[in-house]
Amino acid sequence: MFETRGLLISLEGIDGCGKTTQAELLCGKLAQNGFDYIQVREPGGTVFGEQIRQILLDNRYSPLLRTEMLLYMAARSELTEQVILPALFAGKTVICDRFTDSTLAYQGYGGGTDLSLIRLLNYKVTGGLVPHLTILLDLSLEEAARRRGTSADRMESKDIRYHRRVRKGYLDIARQEPHRMKIVDAVRAVNDQSELIWRLVFRKIDSNKSARSAYEF
Ligand code: TMP
Repeated sequence: MFETRGLLISLEGIDGCGKTTQAELLCGKLAQNGFDYIQVREPGGTVFGEQIRQILLDNRYSPLLRTEMLLYMAARSELTEQVILPALFAGKTVICDRFTDSTLAYQGYGGGTDLSLIRLLNYKVTGGLVPHLTILLDLSLEEAARRRGTSADRMESKDIRYHRRVRKGYLDIARQEPHRMKIVDAVRAVNDQSELIWRLVFRKIDSNKSARSAYEF
């Protein structure tokens, strides 16, 4: 069993929802306000995880759904133990561009992998770490596709029905966990979204000042 003081904040949404832009803007606000933070992404964020990312997004490969899911878990395992937990122990805020919910939404709701298996593996590879706050940037598939443009990696190339299930999956998770996952309408102006996200994050940091979270491996 171990305890940490920092906060884990994840950003989620379908491809093209603008979450990477919002992660950058959020980190800018954390820096301006003197907060100690790190920014990471999934899959990736470690040398090994970035290699896994390249394989996962490469259009030349078509792995089994189970293999794909396990590779996302492998990248998460590395990132959590090597980067996220040490930062949380040090009391830092961790901004994570995608985390456990992505596997539920994509490989689970999108790909049809058993949700309870994904939950179990998420638990095993993170030691039970759950984001303290998750921002879901929700956007229609049509608008997301328009923003993405023409080039598509292996995940983006999956068909529209797959991505429709992913979006529905995210909205389902948000309905199940309304205290943790907050929906932001990603059709709004970039700065409006950023202000709203900042208010949600600041409130969470403020209310967490003396809290500690416990996890176990
Ligand atoms: P990104 O481009 O937003 O960084 O994410 C990479 C792609 O990987 C994106 O299409 C979503 C997908 N993905 C999954 O399918 N499952 C996962 O567990 C994660 C973390 C990402």
